[in-house]
Amino acid sequence: MTDRYQQFSTSGVGRLLVQRLGLPNPTPLRRFSPGQPALDGPALLGGAPGGRLADSIGAAMKSAGIEVLTVPQDSHAALAFDATGITTPEALRELYDFFHPVIRSVGPCGRVVVLGTPHPADPREAVAQRALEGFVRSVGKELKRGATAQLVYVEPGAEDKVESTLRFLLSAKSAYVDAQVVRVGTHGGDVTVPDDWAVPLAGKVALVTGASRGIGAAIAEVLARDGAHVIALDIPAQGADLAAVANGVGGSAVQLDITAADAPARLVEHLKARHGGVDIVVHNAGITRDKTLAKMTDGGWDAVLAVNLACQLKVNDALLDGVLRAGGRIIGVSSIAGVAGNVGQTNYATSKAGVIGMVDAYAPLLAERGMTINAVAPGFIETTMTAAVPLVIREVGRRMNSLSQGGLPVDVAETIAWYANPASGAVNGNVVRVCGQSLLGA
Ligand SMILES: NC(=O)c1ccc[n+]([C@@H]2O[C@H](COP(=O)([O-])OP(=O)(O)OC[C@H]3O[C@@H](n4cnc5c(N)ncnc54)[C@H](O)[C@@H]3O)[C@@H](O)[C@H]2O)c1
Repeated sequence: MTDRYQQFSTSGVGRLLVQRLGLPNPTPLRRFSPGQPALDGPALLGGAPGGRLADSIGAAMKSAGIEVLTVPQDSHAALAFDATGITTPEALRELYDFFHPVIRSVGPCGRVVVLGTPHPADPREAVAQRALEGFVRSVGKELKRGATAQLVYVEPGAEDKVESTLRFLLSAKSAYVDAQVVRVGTHGGDVTVPDDWAVPLAGKVALVTGASRGIGAAIAEVLARDGAHVIALDIPAQGADLAAVANGVGGSAVQLDITAADAPARLVEHLKARHGGVDIVVHNAGITRDKTLAKMTDGGWDAVLAVNLACQLKVNDALLDGVLRAGGRIIGVSSIAGVAGNVGQTNYATSKAGVIGMVDAYAPLLAERGMTINAVAPGFIETTMTAAVPLVIREVGRRMNSLSQGGLPVDVAETIAWYANPASGAVNGNVVRVCGQSLLGA
């Protein structure tokens, strides 16, 4: 749906009023289109002495076609900093020394990426590395004009596994992902560099639930754009819309209530018979039945927990019995309500926090099989679901984030496509918020 305020704020009169009155000033975000360069300018690369990632960051950026500078210019499309050399609190000064002189040089929709070490054994180093989170989250809040900041913790041994993550975070694909902490580790699947980064999912089969509209339809489109055959699933009542989405992406449609007792068995049968298995499973289907706890009905509680959580575990268990192929990906869709809680959403927030629990619990199990599980936690995304929210609450939801606007379904879809990428095998157990650095649950 249209953000009328954003349209107004970029008009002649609107721009003047926004400036004079100090109103939120949402910059139209740069979003990905095929063939677009990874960045629309050079990136400045720096690092604390003794860091272990500068070579891999530089190589990944060059492989993505990005011009990498080590001497500052007036303007940069990205600033990348290897902070793994920071082993004491005193050495955090390296952050200040690098970023202070150049932070104003970050261009519109620019990128700041800091890379660190997760949980080092040495206590002083662990303190210093944990401190990076506060730095990045504050930079995210200070950056203007649609620019974002992220922190990537790279486990020792995973230095050569960061390329898919850097490509995603630096590009316009991560437009609405801001101030997130991503972990790249050594426990997950194989990292397979795609023959063609434009179609990294070529030859893969992806199942997307709740795909007839909204975020699910966008996920289907983006995974198909990236080369996957998409099996779009939704309830029979959505059959016509579902068929349109499936046809539009050259995929296939499955009409199924995912909570039905026989749904896992029917899915297994379908996937084996038609596709010989599946590579990517996106649990996107979700519902809300909002009421405060005191007013909630049994049915409202049960339906939300069944669709948004319980059935997903049953489907996972069935697919992990030989249907999800080697290098498989399971991807959940949580919500910032699951992180922060929300009035009138005890059922929904419980289910969405459960999705985060699913990622935590399954990540080590999937790693043993060379597979991964991750989730996205969308904030305010412009869909029919949020269009139904009363105007004032909707307007607050839209603006209460560092980018002063709602995200689009495609922003969630691009994040899912990054998890699904065969080069993202080292990305396991993450829950990345797609929320423009929402103030809720930050
Ligand atoms: N829109 C947002 O701002 C937002 C924010 C956070 C999280 N999310 C989550 O993103 C996901 C998609 O949200 P959306 O806004 O596109 O919602 P939506 O209501 O437009 O789409 C959800 C889809 O799931 C399908 N579905 C519901 N129950 C099903 C079942 N039993 N079996 C199969 N399909 C079923 C619906 O028919 C629908 O097509 C949901 O999990 C939602 O909770 C959305």
